[in-house]
Amino acid sequence: MKLTLKHLRRVGAIAAAAATAGLLLTSGQAPAQQPGKIKIGLMLPYTGTFAALGTSITNAFKLAIAENGGKLGGREIEYFTVDDESDPAKAPDNANKLIKRDQVDVLVGTVHSGVALAMAKLARDNNTLLIIPNAGADEITGPLCAANVFRTSFSNSQMGIAMGKVMAEQTKKTAVTLTWKYAAGDESVGGFKEAFEAGGGKVLKEMSLPFPQVEFQSYLTEIAALKPDVVYVFFAGGGAVKFVKDYAAAGLNKTIPLVGAGFLTDGTLDAQGDAAQGLLTTLHYGDGLNIPKNNAFRAAYTKAYTTAPDVYAVQGYDAAQLLIAGVNAVKGDMSKRAELVKAMEVAKLDSPRGSLALNKGHNPIHDIYLRKVEGKENKVISVAVKNLTDPPRGCKL
Ligand code: BEZ
Repeated sequence: MKLTLKHLRRVGAIAAAAATAGLLLTSGQAPAQQPGKIKIGLMLPYTGTFAALGTSITNAFKLAIAENGGKLGGREIEYFTVDDESDPAKAPDNANKLIKRDQVDVLVGTVHSGVALAMAKLARDNNTLLIIPNAGADEITGPLCAANVFRTSFSNSQMGIAMGKVMAEQTKKTAVTLTWKYAAGDESVGGFKEAFEAGGGKVLKEMSLPFPQVEFQSYLTEIAALKPDVVYVFFAGGGAVKFVKDYAAAGLNKTIPLVGAGFLTDGTLDAQGDAAQGLLTTLHYGDGLNIPKNNAFRAAYTKAYTTAPDVYAVQGYDAAQLLIAGVNAVKGDMSKRAELVKAMEVAKLDSPRGSLALNKGHNPIHDIYLRKVEGKENKVISVAVKNLTDPPRGCKL
């Protein structure tokens, strides 16, 4: 969905309403100690297979800021936006536009792990505050962790670990995996293999194709020949839509269960239709989670953007919530970096996903749900792993 002037006006109206009702979280704060606006750089995909994901993140980030009175720590905000096209080769130039040219106070992005790895390097080199609202590259909050780099989404291996455990518990014996060949896919499949084989299963074959290719036919033919008990995949956005439809069109959904990291069916169900019905996935969010924060978030997002939110929106919303926690703690004085970082590190966010805290490497500790597609919903059917956190993986903070 395109972000139109109409949407932004609606978000503005929410901010005004919140202010009138005296609901501003910033009320009672001392005036900002630094003049001018806080500059926020949004580096996200607005074109290509992940375009809808970038839009969801942007929408929800702006919604959370609007609910905070449209300000951070009492200061006005100015947004700078770059379409990163999910292209790692363009990432250094794109990130430098925001860091060096626009001199943003905080960088928010992105979706694609390869692009995020480049952003994290530049953020470390320039000591720019970076909040990652999706890309799950394990290394960023592991061996490459940094005081100025935070993530409000997940790490890629988390969803694979959860699904590997569930499939082993369901006594599946053999699996085949398929993904795009890059950090996100490799780590997601790696997590699945580790947990599935630890539970007694065997991965017969790991298959992959370059990102963002969607010519799946030869892989489907091979899956049909191998006849595993289950197929685990990592795909997202436009590629996930195509894969689920192709799997069903080949008739494989009738004979070999397809499971995946929840991105396979999140934000995609309208386009996937019948082909997605009954699919099991693991993710840190589910549409119908009946908790007050999720109900309020879904109502506010749907009102502002006339479309239902997805997991990417949740992560964007939480990126803004984390920033608000940090900047409000220093009353808008971005020069108090150590205090700001501390406040972000200890923040306990009331996330639409449930409770959200960060581990030492600044990566979420959260529940991973097992979900089943029913109609237009990813229904939560159980908690696959409670309070999942990553091992330190050499993070030295
Ligand atoms: C990633 O590249 O890390 C990613 C992209 C889309 C969904 C989930 C993860």
